[in-house]
Amino acid sequence: MPEAQQVAIRDATAQDALCIAVLGMQVFLDTYATDGVRDSIAREVLYAFSPDNMSKIIASSDTLVIVAEVRDHLVGFAQVAMSTGHDLISDPNASELQRLYVQENFTGKGVGYRLLEEAEKYAYLHGASLLWATVWIGNDRALKFYPRQGYEHLGSPSYTFQNETHENHLFGKILG
Ligand SMILES: CC(C)(COP(=O)(O)OP(=O)(O)OC[C@H]1O[C@@H](n2cnc3c(N)ncnc32)[C@H](O)[C@@H]1OP(=O)(O)O)[C@@H](O)C(=O)NCCC(=O)NCCS
Repeated sequence: MPEAQQVAIRDATAQDALCIAVLGMQVFLDTYATDGVRDSIAREVLYAFSPDNMSKIIASSDTLVIVAEVRDHLVGFAQVAMSTGHDLISDPNASELQRLYVQENFTGKGVGYRLLEEAEKYAYLHGASLLWATVWIGNDRALKFYPRQGYEHLGSPSYTFQNETHENHLFGKILG
C-alpha cells in the first residue's frame, strides 16, 4: 500500500456506527448476495446492519469493534464477542470473531491481517485463550485466509438466518 494510504487501526466509537453499518451492508452483499438479492438476504442485511443495531453493538461491553481507516475513510472493521463459546469448542475461554469485513477495493493489502491481529491481541488481553470464526462454504477467499493466519478447521456446523440453513466451516486459533 503506498505511504499515503497507510492504514490506521483503532477502537470504534459511537460516531462510527453509520459508516460501519453502510460498509457492513456493502461487504455483506458483495460476499453473500452472489446470486443476486432475494428477500431473506435483503431482510438480513437491513436488520443486521441497521445503524441502530450497530450503535448497540459498539456500546456493548461484551463486544469489541475495531475499525481500519485509510485517509480518514472507513475501509474495514472487525467485531469480537468476548466469552462466546460453540458446541464444537471445548475451551471455556473462547471468544468469537463475529465479523471481519474489508471493503473490496482494499482487500489483498494486509488490512484483514492487521484487523485480525488486533482482534486476537484484544481477545487475549481480555482473557480469551482461543478465537474462533465461522465461514460460509461458498466464501472461498475467507476459507483460504484463516488457515494462512494460523487457524485450524475445527468442524462444519450449519448456520440459519431468515429461515435458510447454510453450511459453514468453523476455524479456531489458540491465542498467546
Ligand atoms: C477475508 C478478508 C477479511 C481478508 O481480508 P484482506 O484484507 O483481503 O486480507 P489480507 O490482505 O490481510 O491478506 C490477503 C493477502 O494479502 C497479503 N498481504 C498481507 N499484507 C500485505 C501487504 N501489506 N501488501 C500486500 N499484500 C499483503 C496476505 O499475505 C495475503 O496473501 P496471500 O493471499 O498470498 O496469503 C476480506 O477478503 C473480506 O473482507 N472479505 C469479505 C468479507 C468476508 O468474507 N469476511 C470473512 C467472513 S468470515
